[in-house]
Amino acid sequence: MKKNPLPRLDKYPELKKELLPYCRLKRGEIWKDPFGNHKVGCLDAADDRDVKKIMGTKQARLAIHDPPYNQVAFKEKKLNEYITWCKKWVEITNHHLSENSSLYIWLGADQKKGFQPLPDFMIMMRSIEDLKARSFITLRNQRGYGTQKNWMAIRQELLYYTKGNPCFVVQYTDIPKILRGYYKKIGGKVTENIIRGKSKNIRSGNVWVDIQQVFYRREENVSGCYTQKPIKALDRIVLASSKKGDLVIDFFAHSGTTLLSCEHFGRTCYTIDNDPVFCEITIRRLELFRNKRLLGWQNSNPFEDIFGPDNNLLKEYTSRQRTDYSQLSLF
Ligand SMILES: C[S@@+](CC[C@H](N)C(=O)[O-])C[C@H]1O[C@@H](n2cnc3c(N)ncnc32)[C@H](O)[C@@H]1O
Repeated sequence: MKKNPLPRLDKYPELKKELLPYCRLKRGEIWKDPFGNHKVGCLDAADDRDVKKIMGTKQARLAIHDPPYNQVAFKEKKLNEYITWCKKWVEITNHHLSENSSLYIWLGADQKKGFQPLPDFMIMMRSIEDLKARSFITLRNQRGYGTQKNWMAIRQELLYYTKGNPCFVVQYTDIPKILRGYYKKIGGKVTENIIRGKSKNIRSGNVWVDIQQVFYRREENVSGCYTQKPIKALDRIVLASSKKGDLVIDFFAHSGTTLLSCEHFGRTCYTIDNDPVFCEITIRRLELFRNKRLLGWQNSNPFEDIFGPDNNLLKEYTSRQRTDYSQLSLF
């Protein structure tokens, strides 16, 4: 078994620096898929000229954004600065969305800081005239640890907005229907919901309890990344709100989950990240999927060709991570 994961890259900037020479993109550059139509740009989501570089005159049917949540994993801004920044990339997105389109935004609420930035973001969104609030989805984000003095924080919020009248294809969970009931007369005959239903499984509502959070034992895990979303969640969004051949955009790529889902379901994806290392990981993840049908590098890492299967430098970093984390838990 391989045993060569990268530690969380936000914790070790010096390791990130070592990866830079292996990144195909520098700031401002765009990778064009030689075997398909996707694009990956090392660009700034809040810079309209940057976004125009990758979009050209194309309009997207679906946008799925997962920005930093103004919490610990990324730099924290003052709340009003953060919301002003969000408004910028939302307006840019709106400009590049087609007449009938959907926008999904992952966001968090810091319960230690008045639940910022989620409510502030929702209020800001009311000022974007074209976009109509449609649903407030919660993904159960089970972590298996939590404080003894509060309810364990296991939610991940996902906001759904629409512009015009976009498609929406009902999605089903893997949970079988077991409850009978809700009788209705159809053609003079009394039927119950299980007979009338289009699927033996429960329809997906706006609380998603059937999707497993990404953690190191999952095949899809991309070591080095620290805010990766489960591919199953992206698949659900892509299938519900786009059709084959549609253009999907994601301005915060990180591990490239949206791109992977688009590749799998025949959509084109333009995705950007302002960090060349995450752009490279996104491109490598697409290549891995195409070459080996794998979703991630189980027990290894996106740069395994450079580091080799048994690298001492990586071993040192992962053991440092273990020590850093165990020291953290002492406080
Ligand atoms: C929360 S992560 C996205 C996770 C992603 N959905 C996944 O499944 O891997 C946010 C990403 O946004 C990037 N980012 C932060 N500020 C940005 C900006 N102004 N423009 C583009 N990308 C940005 C970060 O480098 C990070 O990789």
